[in-house]
Amino acid sequence: MRPFLKAPLTLHLLFSLLITLCYSSYAAASGICPQNRTTKNAPNKILTASNPIPKNAGNVQTGKRLFQQDAKPTACRMCHGIKGNGNGRLAINLDPPPRNFICTETMQVISDGQLFWIIKNGSPGTKMPAHIETLTDREIWQLILYIRNF
Ligand code: HEC
Repeated sequence: MRPFLKAPLTLHLLFSLLITLCYSSYAAASGICPQNRTTKNAPNKILTASNPIPKNAGNVQTGKRLFQQDAKPTACRMCHGIKGNGNGRLAINLDPPPRNFICTETMQVISDGQLFWIIKNGSPGTKMPAHIETLTDREIWQLILYIRNF
């Protein structure tokens, strides 16, 4: 190949590589979106319930503490990710994958009552654990304020 053609070609390759790298880290940060969701619906009465506690800084902060650190048996962050994108450390190979809370397309069709029901009772047949014994109803609503705020 003629020398004057080599430089542009190398540059072109480097540039494509850079774009691919940027795109893949962008895709990882935004998670799987939209998500194919087969989660069972909450009973009607709770499905239509709205969050009874106010969205103030204190409640969102408590939700954050539970999500990132204190929730038992396992902090939500471990599966749903620090940024809520569903890519937590324990999410690798989970099928179905943890919900991606930053995916507007998926999240906007899920009601607060539905989120409440699954956090409380878990999603049978998946790795989403129940929190009947470890979180109060108030704490679950606080978690929902935080999840909606990502
Ligand atoms: C061990 C991993 C794991 C942990 C820990 C975990 N989740 Fe999940 N979560 C999942 C998986 C997997 C799903 C997907 C379930 C499904 O598709 O039905 C899910 C789904 C959800 C959903 C979606 C409900 C719906 O109807 O779409 C919500 C809300 C949720 N989790 C909240 C939480 C909260 C809050 C915590 C912490 C208190 C938490 N999760 C902890 C794995 C986890």
